[in-house]
Amino acid sequence: MALAQHYQKLKDVHLRQLFAEDPARGERFTVEAAGLYLDYSKNRITDETLTLLQQLARECGVKERIDAMFRGDKINVSENRAVLHVALRAPRGACIMHDGRNVVPDVHAVLDKMADFSARVRGGEWKGHTGKRIRNVINIGIGGSDLGPVMAYGALRYYSDRAMTVRFVSNVDGTDFAEAVRDLDAGETLFIVSSKTFTTLETMSNAHTARSWLLAALKDESAIAKHFVAVSTNAPEVAQFGIDTANMFEFWDWVGGRYSMDSAIGLSTMLAIGPDNFRAMLDGFHAMDEHFRSAPLERNLPVLMGLLGVWYSDFFGAQTVAILPYEQYLKRFPAYLQQLTMESNGKHVTIDGVRVDYDTGPIYWGEPGTNGQHSFYQLIHQGTRFIPCDFIAFSRALNPVGRHHDILLANVFAQTEALAFGKTAAEVKAEGTPDWLVPHRLFEGNRPSNTLLLDTLTPAALGKLVALYEHSVFTQGTIWQIDSFDQWGVELGKALAQKIIPQLDGSSEPKLEHDSSTNALIRRYRKTKEP
Ligand code: F6P
Repeated sequence: MALAQHYQKLKDVHLRQLFAEDPARGERFTVEAAGLYLDYSKNRITDETLTLLQQLARECGVKERIDAMFRGDKINVSENRAVLHVALRAPRGACIMHDGRNVVPDVHAVLDKMADFSARVRGGEWKGHTGKRIRNVINIGIGGSDLGPVMAYGALRYYSDRAMTVRFVSNVDGTDFAEAVRDLDAGETLFIVSSKTFTTLETMSNAHTARSWLLAALKDESAIAKHFVAVSTNAPEVAQFGIDTANMFEFWDWVGGRYSMDSAIGLSTMLAIGPDNFRAMLDGFHAMDEHFRSAPLERNLPVLMGLLGVWYSDFFGAQTVAILPYEQYLKRFPAYLQQLTMESNGKHVTIDGVRVDYDTGPIYWGEPGTNGQHSFYQLIHQGTRFIPCDFIAFSRALNPVGRHHDILLANVFAQTEALAFGKTAAEVKAEGTPDWLVPHRLFEGNRPSNTLLLDTLTPAALGKLVALYEHSVFTQGTIWQIDSFDQWGVELGKALAQKIIPQLDGSSEPKLEHDSSTNALIRRYRKTKEP
């Protein structure tokens, strides 16, 4: 294949050489879309690489798949579902069809219901059972019903109502719940039970515990109606739990869990930042959707980023990608991206069920800068692994403090420069370094990175950023010919846990028929657990 041959030619070429040969490279290999500026010049690519990658995209039908997604085709083949998160942020007058029905009015009806509810809670009109206003919101959910809301709340904290406490309970480890409620007054607390299926073990366990906690304090079943709302696609289960479906915010099976932060799953976000800011976030998503749908492949930001990821995964053998936001409010962005990228593209068969003979989704990880610089960057700079990095930064600080922002941004630029160009033995020697120390102080460089520079972290900017990654994940999945929208890999562990739960309880030893390791662990736990 042409790309494999091209890789052989390029694999030993240094970024120093590429920049020397083309001094305008740093301006040329950039693209701006919907206010996001991407500098991809510090990647191990040439014009030929881009041409070949775009050819690959064309051959794999990226354009056709984008159209199929927007058209509502059932591109989630293994679950026989459409993939229409783009409809969640379509403007009111738009038309996106699903099974012969325009879903945009449904989306806006739920958004309006959320806005009305949020305004009533934020304004103090919606009161708790004892007549107190709601001051605490706890979202109970896990995976896509948690990570998006957690990330968005952190990212948009600046815009949030500081009189309100917003917390998240996801883990079935009782500590998560206990710590979330320990200082709260039940009479001022609203639980949002967020679960697409409303059957997830962790979420339902936490929801039942929350129910008991509330009833222990308020001592009246009728309090549930004022302190519990649900976000789900499963009305019968919501009713079964005891939440009035009038207090349920709906979404649909064409929204994947990890693509749901701008559906009703974002209710906690809306309660925190208010309906107007939430809608601004949706507009940001939509701006990137439009760019993705209409921009030519060569200038298409998500396509470009997706293709660069494929280039490194499948030709350079990169096992991981580091996500490095230089923005404290984006602290949980790498964790959010882990589910988005790894649950989407961690697949070993093609859409047709054939085992792939190439690598698919890499491992995503990261921490905000500058903290990471003082822990794991050493390995990125001088370790033996090859780790492409995405740096994310904003030109304007939300909290301008002295010279902090210049210092922060200087670090972004310095890191990408150091990674790309390194420091040669001659340069190290010229500093007066003794010969024996030179290898230790040498930086090979040639470590690639993208730099995403945005103006200010606004709700709209966050929407654009998330949509950028959503679509770049889709682009990659299309190249790899996998189903980026299913998640069968999580099922086996869930089923086995259901089998083991009753085996951990009761005084007489159950008949254990697992392997010897699992049997021994269960026995030891039974012996050592609290009586
Ligand atoms: O187990 C994985 C998963 O299905 C995710 O895909 C999903 O986001 C999460 O569990 C939570 O599911 P639910 O929203 O149905 O509770």
